[in-house]
Amino acid sequence: MSPRKCYPTLTDMKQAILANLSPAYPWKDRLFVYPELDSTNTRLKSMASQGAPQGTVLIADRQTGGRGRLGRTFLSPAGVGVYLSILLRPDCRPMELMHLTCAAAAAMCRALESAAGIRPGIKWTNDLVWGKRKLAGILTEMGLNAAGNVDWAIVGIGVNCCQAEADFDPEIRDKACSLAMAAGHEIDRARVAAAMLEALREMDASLLTGKEEMLRFYRARCVTLGKEVSIVKGGEVHHGKALDVDEEGALVVRFSDGHTESVSSGEVSVRGMYGYL
Ligand code: BTN
Repeated sequence: MSPRKCYPTLTDMKQAILANLSPAYPWKDRLFVYPELDSTNTRLKSMASQGAPQGTVLIADRQTGGRGRLGRTFLSPAGVGVYLSILLRPDCRPMELMHLTCAAAAAMCRALESAAGIRPGIKWTNDLVWGKRKLAGILTEMGLNAAGNVDWAIVGIGVNCCQAEADFDPEIRDKACSLAMAAGHEIDRARVAAAMLEALREMDASLLTGKEEMLRFYRARCVTLGKEVSIVKGGEVHHGKALDVDEEGALVVRFSDGHTESVSSGEVSVRGMYGYL
């Protein structure tokens, strides 16, 4: 299989992304594409604290320190993925943004569907999956101002686009997947990035008003619901059944001792009883 579509220079990549954006996309003047960054989230966080505007986007062809949830590493090799972070500045209290990761996951389902013609599932809370394999991960971060309101929110997304199975490290080969593997055809990373930006702009427009509709979509796509799960919290593992995703995006679990509790994504890791899903 030769699934790659490469851009010989990053200027071409940026031009190709811009060419794929609709005329209505409002943040074309604040899109930055780099050959390499440690982490697009980390760099954007420092730009946010220096006053970078809403809609600033960083994309790196490669990350040397890509970060995932719960302090994990997100492997980000050159030429095969989209590693993208966007800065938003919603005017609200932090509690009103508890659903941000869910909103981003729902938006990314729509983006990958339109760019690659596949219908991903969501592993609660922040992974996009194809079958039992991870296609993409999302890391959201937030900063507050002196009044305790949201100053900035950053949504970082890493999508495996062009890898063949053998390109993944042996330890994750049976758990990871790319858009090319899922779709069975070559993937244009610029088209994927543009679809992600359009979906993130739409997400931003309805972030505080469209929560109910977004959660309906999220629940319908969430492959964790109805499954037996292992909840790992502070080194302890508890078993239960995932029943629902609540208004704040927390996972409602009925534990094996019979009690039901909402667990939030900041504190737990969820596994299927027999592996990643
Ligand atoms: C996860 O799998 O837990 C989340 C992975 C998020 C990776 C993306 S890639 C772009 C942005 N920059 C980072 O360092 N992380 C996010």
